This record gives sequence, structure tokens and C-alpha cells, in this order.
Amino acid sequence: MSNRKIEVLSRPDASKARSRLNERKVVRSDIQIDPSLEVYKGKSFYIKTYGCQGNVRDSETFAGIFKAMGMVETEDPKEATIVLLNTCAVRENAEEKVYGEIGKFKDRQKADSSFALVVAGCVMQEEGIGEKLMTSYPQVSLVIGTHNINELPECLASYVKGRRPLMSVYSKAGEVVESLPVSRSDPYKAYVDISYGCDKFCTYCIVPYTRGRERSRDLKDIVKECQDLYLNDYQEVTLLGQNVNSYGKDLKDTSFAELLDKVAEIGIPRIRYLTSHPWDFNDEMIRAMKRHPNIMKWIHLPLQSGSTKVLKEMGRRYSKEEYLALVEKIRTEIPEIELSTDIIVGFPGETEEDFLETIEVVKKVGFDSAFTFIYSPRPGTPAAAREDQVPEEIKHERFNRLVKAVEEGVSASSERMVGKTYEVLVDGPSKRDKAILSGYTEGNKLVNFPGPEYLKGCLVRVKIKESHTYSLLGELDEDPVLAKAKQVASFLKRDPSAKEFISHTKELKDDLSFRENLSLLSKAQKAVALSRSEAEHHKAVEELKGLQDLIDNDPRYANREALKEEVEGLLRETEAILK
Ligand code: SAH
Ligand code: SF4
Ligand code: F3S
Repeated sequence: MSNRKIEVLSRPDASKARSRLNERKVVRSDIQIDPSLEVYKGKSFYIKTYGCQGNVRDSETFAGIFKAMGMVETEDPKEATIVLLNTCAVRENAEEKVYGEIGKFKDRQKADSSFALVVAGCVMQEEGIGEKLMTSYPQVSLVIGTHNINELPECLASYVKGRRPLMSVYSKAGEVVESLPVSRSDPYKAYVDISYGCDKFCTYCIVPYTRGRERSRDLKDIVKECQDLYLNDYQEVTLLGQNVNSYGKDLKDTSFAELLDKVAEIGIPRIRYLTSHPWDFNDEMIRAMKRHPNIMKWIHLPLQSGSTKVLKEMGRRYSKEEYLALVEKIRTEIPEIELSTDIIVGFPGETEEDFLETIEVVKKVGFDSAFTFIYSPRPGTPAAAREDQVPEEIKHERFNRLVKAVEEGVSASSERMVGKTYEVLVDGPSKRDKAILSGYTEGNKLVNFPGPEYLKGCLVRVKIKESHTYSLLGELDEDPVLAKAKQVASFLKRDPSAKEFISHTKELKDDLSFRENLSLLSKAQKAVALSRSEAEHHKAVEELKGLQDLIDNDPRYANREALKEEVEGLLRETEAILK
């Protein structure tokens, strides 16, 4: 199998992964679909995504590119002519899943010669892996890295022409690429990248190597993307970065707090951000959160460990006391805040005492939700090279104790919600039962409740009846039809022509002289109707004409009239939705 001919355009090199491009560069992509890709027109593609929200967002770009090629998305891999696996390397078990998945497509090319299997994502950024995959699995057509997803069409075209498996993976992070096509997976909730890569180099973590050095998108590009989402009725935007609160450090004249302000002002009902690093968490962010009710009072604040010694060895740049003080400050400033976290057990050299300190912090903070992980040595990271690895059985034993401690806090937090009413953004009917809707609260708690399907995408009030550790059971606390009508009304207000129409109407209503002219107009109309002689009629008509001209020549009135037809169309559409 290893004599299979493969074409390597570029391969990852671990020694270069830490370095950055000399200059930050933004490029506007202009996706070119080569005529050779016509073979895929009308065919289906299937994408499977592993890992974090960053990968989910990248998959939406891949989907956008496939759709630009004229393809349609399918949920069934057996139907697909192109299958793309977007991989994650953060822990070994995430990486291993990919090999099993690739195995499933073993004989597909025999049955359909146009079948292509693309493997993308973080695992492909690891040295040697792409080539190994391509030589040992004949079904792999293309290996592409995380820095050049915009080159997917070119790479696919080369593959189609050459019929040789191809690999293109850059070691260094490239430019910030804008204007790529996107096909979003949810009509109401969206992820928006604000920065790529990470400069923190925590000693256990592979992300800085697979995603490259940190680079921020321009503020105006992020704001523009959010404005478009707002106009398209999006209810929730999550700003994404491996380390969102170091946003703008490479831009100099802006900051994450300023970005929060700018995005919140657009008016999207819910704004979240992921992930913030405790070291970069500052008072301006807290102030921005307090200023804007639409920034959700929820923070994902990874702790990783409760031992200052372990934190230091992890390269986290904060102590146990500093983390606790930060939590205290946030809770004093924003009492309703809900906190979630990430914790790793079994970092090399972690002693029982270190672990007990983690448990202590978990108990003190009482996180509202938490993700817990067993330390997994990642190739090329400093912690993986250490000799004092914690034995597997101790890691597992500590993990079980940690999960228990975390669950106590999470259950207590859910328990406190029973009997209270919360706003929930409805994701839609649950998979198991169509009559049950599910959605998330401001604090990112999952709530299930009976309700009609048409509430998908609406913000509704739900009273919590029962708490289970990882979800809550509730009932609607408002009329579903009214909730839907509220959503439609807010959508209408976002429409640019409706917005302008409403603003002109308001200005005209508030203008005394205009109102005076309107009342004179109706008097003049009456005078025309009531005129008894030819002369009286003539005079009244002249007066009416004069007034009409005055009103018609008011630009606000003229603009409003011009928009009327469009707004009436919108209203008719709305009526149909509500019916
Ligand atoms: N940038 C984010 C997310 C990083 S990956 C952050 O800093 O929080 C998500 C989580 O995976 C991390 O927070 C960490 O808890 C966990 N993680 C990362 N590397 C790991 C490893 N080698 N073993 C186990 N868990 C790991
Ligand atoms: Fe990894 Fe640390 Fe960067 Fe998060 S901050 S991505 S854990 S290196
Ligand atoms: Fe995984 Fe890459 Fe995200 S390693 S967690 S997919 S950045």
C-alpha cells in the first residue's frame, strides 16, 4: 500500500509551528470554482465535525464552499459523493475516533469513482499524520490543514485532474482570510470568529501548534458579520476565539471590551463569548457586560487546576488565589452571573494534595456547569515529554472523584432554579419527543418543556418545575402565540425598509408644522366637497393642491410613501407566518 503515489504540496513541520508570519495580513478571498469541479454539481456532500466551536465554524465554511460548487448537503454519509472529516487533536481519544471513521469509507471509490474523502482539521496539522493516512488508507483523497481551508476548491480541482491523493498543510498560520462563503448550520444561533490561533502555549495543549499564532480579525469585519446576522433574524451570536479576551493585542488600537460594546449595540438579543482566559480577564469586560443587557451573564472561565503549583507548570499565569479573587470580583459586580469551567486531572506531577486543592476550588466556586478531562499527553507539547506522568488508574480514580464534586455544585445550581421563570431561546423540538421543546437559558442551562414547534427561534419564558443535574424540566409561562408574535415583530423592526418607514413616521408625527398641514389638508378636502359655487370650488381646489404639494415635497413623507409598498408586503408575509 505504501507505494501509492501521493502528491504533497506542503506538509506541517513542528519546528516551524511556533513561529508567526512577519506581518499580519488580511486578504479578501475570491473563491474560484474550476470547471473541473463541474463533476460534483448536483451531488451531495457530508461533513462530520469533531472538536470545538472553532471547528464547527470552519465546517460551515467548508459547507459554504461545497454549496458554491453547486453541491447539496446530506445527513447520510452513504449518499455523499464528497465526505469531509474535520478532525480534533486536543486529546488522544478525539484523534482516535477519526481513524475508525475513515475505515467506514473503505470501498466507496470502487462503487463510485467520483467519490472523494477529504480529511481536514487539527489532526492534519500534526507532523507525519497526513502522509501516514494517505499511504495506509487508499480512500483518502485529500488532506488539508487548518490554515488553508480557503484553498479547498483549488486542491479538489488538482485532485480531480490528477486523480492522485493530494496533501496541502501549512506549518505556519497564514493571513486572516475574509469573505469566504458560509453555510450556517443553525438559522437562529451563530458562531462568529473574532481571532484565530493561540499565543498562550499552556504546556499540555496542542492548539497553538495546530491553529498557529494568535491573530485577530479586523473589528469592522466582525461587526459587519454580526450586523448581517442581526438583519437575518439571528437571536444569538457567540464570539469565538481560543482566547477571546486577548482580542486586538495584534491590532493595537482596540480591545475585546470595545468589541463587546460594538457588537452589543447592534441589537442581537443574545451575545456570548468563548473562551476567556482568566489571565486576560479585565474590568473593562465586566463594565461592558454590565452596560449591555444583551450580553449574556454567563462566562466560561477555565480553571484547569486548583493547585498553584500545577497551574504554574501548566503555564496558566494565575494562582489558585488569583482565580478565586477573580470569581469573587465578577460575582460582586454581576451577582446573577453563571460560571462554567474546564478542569484537567492527572497533569504530570499532580499529587493527591494538588488534586484535593482542585476539589477545594470546585467546592468553593460551585460552578453552574463544567467540562472535566483526563490529561492526555499530546505529541510535541512540553508536558508530554515529562517523566512524572500520573498512572492511568490514578487519573481515572481522580477523574471520578472530580466528576462527583463538580456534579454537586451543578445540581445545587440547577436546584436553585426550580420555581423560577427564565427566558429560554428555543432550539426546536427534542429528538426523542416532537412535543417537547428544548433550549438554553441565559446561563446556558438546558431546559426541556412541552410546547408547539413553531416556537423554534423564539425567546420564551419558561417556569422551571424539576431539576436534573444536566437539564431542567419546565413549562411555558406565557401564551405561545404571543411569544411568536413578539419574535415576528422584532424581526419586522430589524428590516431596513421597515426600520426607515417607522423612523420617518415617527419624525412626521413629532413635527408640529407637518401635523398642522395634515389637519389643514383634511379641512381643505372637506371644503372642496362642500363648495357650492364654481368660484368657491376653484378656490378650494387651489388651496388643496398647494397643501398637497407642501406635504408631497417633504422628503420624509416622500420616502415614507416610497417604502409603503415594501412594508405592506412584509406585513402580508408576517400575517401568513402567524397564520
Ligand atoms: N482555548 C480554550 C480551549 C482549549 S481546548 C481554553 O483555553 O480554555 C478545551 C479544553 O480542553 C481546555 O480548556 C482543557 O481543559 C482541555 N485540554 C486541552 N489540552 C488537553 C490535554 N492535553 N489533555 C486533557 N485536556 C486538555
Ligand atoms: Fe490551549 Fe491554553 Fe491556548 Fe487554551 S489558552 S488554547 S488551553 S494553549
Ligand atoms: Fe480540537 Fe483543534 Fe478545537 S484541537 S479543540 S478542533 S482547535
